[in-house]
Amino acid sequence: MTRLNAPEYVRHQGLIDWVGSIAALTRPDRIEWADGSQAEYDRLCNALVEGGTMKRLNPAKRPNSFLALSDPSDVARVEDRTFICSEHEADAGPTNNWMAPAEMRKTLNGLFEGCMRGRTMYVVPFSMGPLGSPIAQIGIELTDSPYVVINMKLMTRMGRAVYDVLGTQGEYVPAVHSVGKPLAAGEKDATWPCNATKYIVHYPETREIWSYGSGYGGNALLGKKCFALRIASNMGRQQAEQDGLGWLAEHMLILGVTSPEGVKRHVAAAFPSACGKTNFAMLIPPKGFEGWKVTTIGDDIAWIKPRPDPKTGELRLYAINPEAGYFGVAPGTNEKTNPNCMASLRENVIFTNVALTDDGDVWWEGMSPAPDHLIDWQGKDWTPADAATRKAAHPNARFTVAATQNPVIDPQWDDPAGVPIDAFIFGGRRSTTVPLVTEARDWVEGVYMAATMGSETTAAAAGQQGVVRRDPFAMLPFCGYNMSDYFNHWLKLGEQLKGKGAKLPGIFCVNWFRTDENGKFVWPGFGENMRVLQWMLARVEGKADAKGAEHVFGVTPRYEDLHWRGADFSKAAYEQITSIDMAAWKHELGLHEELFQKLSQRLPAQLRSVKDRLEARLAG
Ligand code: OXD
Ligand code: MN
Repeated sequence: MTRLNAPEYVRHQGLIDWVGSIAALTRPDRIEWADGSQAEYDRLCNALVEGGTMKRLNPAKRPNSFLALSDPSDVARVEDRTFICSEHEADAGPTNNWMAPAEMRKTLNGLFEGCMRGRTMYVVPFSMGPLGSPIAQIGIELTDSPYVVINMKLMTRMGRAVYDVLGTQGEYVPAVHSVGKPLAAGEKDATWPCNATKYIVHYPETREIWSYGSGYGGNALLGKKCFALRIASNMGRQQAEQDGLGWLAEHMLILGVTSPEGVKRHVAAAFPSACGKTNFAMLIPPKGFEGWKVTTIGDDIAWIKPRPDPKTGELRLYAINPEAGYFGVAPGTNEKTNPNCMASLRENVIFTNVALTDDGDVWWEGMSPAPDHLIDWQGKDWTPADAATRKAAHPNARFTVAATQNPVIDPQWDDPAGVPIDAFIFGGRRSTTVPLVTEARDWVEGVYMAATMGSETTAAAAGQQGVVRRDPFAMLPFCGYNMSDYFNHWLKLGEQLKGKGAKLPGIFCVNWFRTDENGKFVWPGFGENMRVLQWMLARVEGKADAKGAEHVFGVTPRYEDLHWRGADFSKAAYEQITSIDMAAWKHELGLHEELFQKLSQRLPAQLRSVKDRLEARLAG
């Protein structure tokens, strides 16, 4: 029985054997068992600085913070290289790339063979969700990237305590990651090693993750998109086969809203990547909303499970944030758009692909007026004269920071019981067509709205930007199984909960991004979104003054239905962002039809019925 130098607190022989088998395949020079300590974090950061991957920022400006610059070819999630390798292709569905597991294993075995030569393989234990909580899940990531190890420490509950929970037999999701750049003896390492060949692979039946060739974000920090969304969405759906309900793993922020009267509500909101989830989760109520408070439970991912309210016994949906940190988009963040985020970033931050100022601090587009000179994200000199031709920070530049640094962190953010959800919000980035806010008339219509959501693509994924694509539930790149089955899971869960007398959250669709004839955003967004949020919660509560006008698509407040205290937003501007253009909606429904054609094999009949109803209304 080999122990591979595992510390004595690692008592899970099955895990040690698995680590041994991956080491035998990948051939690292050494194995290091990460304990998650501050000393380990500091040591790895120092080594990354010494090796040129990171720069230490000026401690007087940004204490204990670093800047990493990636290889220009490795800057975003690679959706076209992401695979769901279920036994049957139909179980991955038409929105996922698929390859037969046996074939993929052959390919990956070839690529991983000896791929860690010359490097250290780190064994990184992490918990998604509060350690030891019944809703948390454990993962072990094996990686040859120390940058991944330090990011995992900020993004998850990572370290030694995980082994206490795991014991000798505990279950974990095995996740293998390599940058795919073995080193020959004496070869100098690249500052950002990676490989032109990339694979981000999930085996849903065996709940394994394999990632090759990238060191960036969701491609490499495997607890996030790979585990907490793609594998976890499978877990939640499979659970439904056992208990009839199951649970949901969603691309949603979670926030708390407390009214001046002290009533607290919770909202989970799905937006595609880089559409302002972090800003919404840290919203500061605007003028006119004195006494209101918004607090953050999570900024990107929600695990949502039904359970009885401990006081009333009524079944409700409770959400936890499985993560422990934020990996947010830096560009556009500033003291006006998100002061809470800026406050979170004062110290202990890993920045990736932002620009470096001459005094050793960071800068990105939208932070403040551009300084006279910078080193850009590719390590080149940059002055404002370059602004017309190249960005100083990459549009998908990120910060990694522990959630505990957020000044408006919700007191319950770490509560294993989660928070009860009062409303779901789905929002795309649409310059036309979709109104500021629409309430679904019932659960099925809400599921339809979420399923047919469209959004203009952003820099969070490699590929063309700004084109509208259907992004059902903001889960297009993250749903780990057949999208039609996923719709069905949502519908069934609603049906079951209703059948058991549960109070279902309201469902709303929002669009902060409508533009005028000059392409400028009409709605100011950010803190002003509070006005919309308050209306939604008042609707959920059934408040008499929360009125709206019904239209083809659902219910939208009229100008006079929102509170405009402290605002300077005209009725004419409001019309611009709430008007329903029937011709545009006809076209939109044509696009819904395209999606339904693509998903036709297992598409739930209820969604077709909603579409028929909308079409009839549109025609009539
Ligand atoms: C993210 C993403 O990093 O959605 O959260 O791309
Ligand atoms: Mn995301």
